[in-house]
Amino acid sequence: MMFRLILFVAALTFLPLHMARASGGEAEPLVHQHWHFSGAFGTYDRAALQRGYKIYREVCASCHSMKQLSFRNLTDLGYNENQIKAIAGEYSVEDGPNEEGEMFERPARPSDSFPAPFANDKAAAYANGGALPPDLSLIIKARHHGSDYVYGLLTGYEEAPHDAHLLDGQYWNKYMPGHVIAMAPPLSDGQVAYEDGSPDTTQQYAADVVEFLTWAGDPHMETRKRTGLKAIMFLVVFAFVMYAVKRQIWSDVH
Ligand code: HEC
Repeated sequence: MMFRLILFVAALTFLPLHMARASGGEAEPLVHQHWHFSGAFGTYDRAALQRGYKIYREVCASCHSMKQLSFRNLTDLGYNENQIKAIAGEYSVEDGPNEEGEMFERPARPSDSFPAPFANDKAAAYANGGALPPDLSLIIKARHHGSDYVYGLLTGYEEAPHDAHLLDGQYWNKYMPGHVIAMAPPLSDGQVAYEDGSPDTTQQYAADVVEFLTWAGDPHMETRKRTGLKAIMFLVVFAFVMYAVKRQIWSDVH
């Protein structure tokens, strides 16, 4: 009887471990990075945002859409109106129909949203071996500890262990749940040239694109923090005033 009980407890303890291993295993715990934007006073670093946008545009945008963003949103990154017009003008978008009922291409305007790399999800998945590259507009919000996670993902590719069975187009990443990901390592040292002297390394690219993606998912963060701070300052001052008023009112009562 006792023996059976021990067996049962042992099975309960080790079975989940075994199952986890069979499915590729638990992802490694995330390493917390020091982000410019975290904490009560954190703000976005404009230079990092601009570099991050460059990484998105030159690397990620060939597979991932960011449908929630319009070119005019890029004013937050410190670009002026003319710069944004120039950026938008490099893209062409489909518009229409015209008087003849035809769709036509025209240069993008600041009010247009970022054009998607594929016509639809089916085409996107087909071009990527059946795996759909998710829209990145809200990816930081959609993942637990999104900023640290996406940074980890972009820098966490490793040689697969010998007993792993990867199919064509699958890669081993220590931070992907289950370890197997259908995105080839998108970043490598020296791939994108920065103009501001920042290091051309995978880590720097990853940090910058995460800063950009975090802003994209939470563009009003700075205003929110400022408003919160003002409200707290008001409440502190108000508390002192009310205390003085209370002392004044009760000063005759002994
Ligand atoms: C060649 C196409 C391609 C490029 C370039 C690319 N990705 Fe991906 N990405 C994919 C595909 C395909 C998936 C889906 C992977 C899966 O589901 O296994 C994916 C998934 C992701 C995910 C979601 C992972 C998860 O938790 O589900 C993130 C985040 C991501 N990519 C970020 C990026 C960033 C940032 C860049 C640019 C630095 C980038 N990708 C460049 C194809 C690409």
